[in-house]
Amino acid sequence: MKATIIGTGSYIPEYILTNQELSTMVETDDEWIVTRTGISERRIQKSGDVADMAVNAALKALDNAGINSEDIDLIIAATSTPDYLFPNCSSIIQKNTGAINAVCFDISAACSGFIMALSAAKAYIEAGMYKKVLIVCSEKMSGITDWKDRSTCILFGDGAGACVVESSEQEGVKSVDLHNEGMLGEVLTAKRNENIVMNGQEVFKFAVKKVPQSILQTLEAANLTTEDIDWYLFHQANARITATIAKRLKVPDEKIPMNVDKCGNTSAASVAILLDEVNRKGMLKKGDKLMLAGFGSGLTWGTMAIEWGI
Ligand code: UT7
Repeated sequence: MKATIIGTGSYIPEYILTNQELSTMVETDDEWIVTRTGISERRIQKSGDVADMAVNAALKALDNAGINSEDIDLIIAATSTPDYLFPNCSSIIQKNTGAINAVCFDISAACSGFIMALSAAKAYIEAGMYKKVLIVCSEKMSGITDWKDRSTCILFGDGAGACVVESSEQEGVKSVDLHNEGMLGEVLTAKRNENIVMNGQEVFKFAVKKVPQSILQTLEAANLTTEDIDWYLFHQANARITATIAKRLKVPDEKIPMNVDKCGNTSAASVAILLDEVNRKGMLKKGDKLMLAGFGSGLTWGTMAIEWGI
């Protein structure tokens, strides 16, 4: 059997933290943030748990897929900001969605979490082990942000994205390319009970070099070209990173939906939230080819080619 995505959902908290408000907290201004990152505002979860956002997104994905929670046989949560060391976030999602027949585990792969989770779902489904997998990515980046560090506090936001992957005779989740360079891990860290520490320029250079290479590998494995892809859904870290990758691959802006301006960087949740947004806007047609890309702390990165609606 093959794997295909049959539904998506997302949740972003109500509170909007604007660049204007940030400029009252640290020495910065709207123009600097917009020019350097493309971010105008981000959402902050003022109260509640990471799992609350996850459950909200998960229920929407189940509804969008048109299936009951009891039908899910595996839940994979991707988060770097879990509420508990244990139980895992996916078990809390099981409890609060009534997915009583699911096995649950979490993936910690920072901003590559959604791609890693989707690739795990693909592998389990293709191995014949599970048939319906719920993937939920939820992050409360505001809880590990140093609100006195202007080089990082402007970047991150909170939110959750989810999707349901099902076994199918059609290959919806086509090819995957995953990488890791733990040797460079110190450029982006958050130690337990401490905040994010980042060398932004190094992360920037890594992303614009490695992501295009990975996309080309994924395309080759799926027997596709850059022109064949209808939509490029990049991890929403910085609009300049996305623009540089697009330029290197000669991909036009119209094929690159963005929400970093409104959501900031929501780590593992970012591509999942974006996928739900474009799905709900009706932008995805049956047979459309999508390229998903995640990159971040680890260092981890990965890309994935999807055929939509089959
Ligand atoms: O999921 C992956 C997560 N991480 C990322 O995606 C990070 C990727 N990197 C970036 O997005 C960029 O490197 C940043 C947005 C973090 C920084 O942009 P940059 O163009 O690399 O700026 P910079 O670090 O080279 O700093 C340039 C100047 C410095 O001042 P001086 O030394 O030139 O006087 C900084 O102190 O900008 C200053 N600066 C700021 N100024 C106003 C740094 N942050 C701010 C700020 N407001 N918020």
